Amino acid sequence: MYEWAKAFHVIAVISWMAGMLYLPRLFVYHCAAEAGSVQSETFKVMEWRLLKYIINPAMTFSWLLGAWLVWEGGWLSSGWFHAKLALVLAMSGVHGFFVGRVRDFGADKNRYSARFYRIINEVPTVLMIGIVIFVIVKPF
Ligand code: HEM
Repeated sequence: MYEWAKAFHVIAVISWMAGMLYLPRLFVYHCAAEAGSVQSETFKVMEWRLLKYIINPAMTFSWLLGAWLVWEGGWLSSGWFHAKLALVLAMSGVHGFFVGRVRDFGADKNRYSARFYRIINEVPTVLMIGIVIFVIVKPF
């Protein structure tokens, strides 16, 4: 049972990360589209659907299955898990930030530059590298 839950946890995490890496790319392209243009409206639909059908459910399943694995595996007092949890909370914070930006773009009220989105695009990548190293290597 534990191995099955872990398999589905990894599947959920892959889906979550795919969206978290792609969404800020869409924001970069969206910045170049004039508000009200056909292109801008298309980006709105793409961003909203990616969030609603992929990123949000994938994050929910990652958390539910991850929480069960922690409970079942007795990892609550392990150092690597505390480190992983800190980075996963940061990832969830970035997720929340992206939800706000989808809302901004949806209302044609984007407040950030394409350069900003290019930089923030790297944050989920860096967090993901740390999370995977903590959970696989378990250095402490
Ligand atoms: C959402 C909150 C999360 C919680 C509570 C959580 C917790 C856990 C736990 C307890 C395990 C089992 C560890 C073991 O049996 O050795 C696990 C496995 C794993 N997690 Fe997470 N995790 C979360 C999110 C993530 C994220 C965001 C990633 C990647 C970016 C990730 C990647 C992995 C991987 C690759 C494994 C498999 C490790 C192995 O093969 O042993 N997890 N997770």
